[in-house]
Amino acid sequence: MARLKLAVLISGRGSNLQALIDACRDAAYPAEIVLVISNEADALGLERAKAAGIPTRVVPHRDFPDRPAFETALTAAIETSGAGLVCLAGFMRMLTDGFANRWRDKLVNIHPSLLPAFKGLDTHARAIAAGVRIAGCTVHFVRPAMDEGPIIAQAAVPVLPGDDAAILAARVLAQEHIIFPVAVRLIAEGRIKVVGERAEIAGVSAHRGALVNPAPDG
Ligand code: GRF
Repeated sequence: MARLKLAVLISGRGSNLQALIDACRDAAYPAEIVLVISNEADALGLERAKAAGIPTRVVPHRDFPDRPAFETALTAAIETSGAGLVCLAGFMRMLTDGFANRWRDKLVNIHPSLLPAFKGLDTHARAIAAGVRIAGCTVHFVRPAMDEGPIIAQAAVPVLPGDDAAILAARVLAQEHIIFPVAVRLIAEGRIKVVGERAEIAGVSAHRGALVNPAPDG
């Protein structure tokens, strides 16, 4: 079967991009990255893409008069690449309704919280300040409203005594690198159907265990 073609949009470090690159190295993985776009010319993720032999494009948002003009350039580059799925992997620009609607159900984002909790920025500091015992990350289809849309995959981690935002971010990030390739695989396999504003997954096998924090015997 043909592999699903991915365009990955980044702004910085690109560790989630790297997780997708690594997953796509497996010939049995049902997707391949055909283009990496960054709005920042010095994004480390661009080097990761080049090292993997993946075409890159820099589309600097500052070169455009407004958001729609910037996004028209993004869409043109994605369309030329032939990508069928767009992955936002640390892409730090707000998107207009027009872009979200153009790529509806073909646009996914990774967010470092258990949505719908902690939309927006500084999720880990806010989770610690709120005193939650469990944090995590989410891959979801993008809708016009920020950090909203049908949820595809989530992973949960404990918040531990002494955690600061950086420690918690690292614990969550390790799980981001797992669930992003999982979500893309499920989409590529045609196993996700969006019904209303929920994503239904065919033949899903979830872990039956629960994450309890503090541990019951702790
Ligand atoms: C990740 O924490 C992701 O959840 C958020 O931005 C960060 C990007 O990190 N959207 P990286 O560039 O993938 O390393």
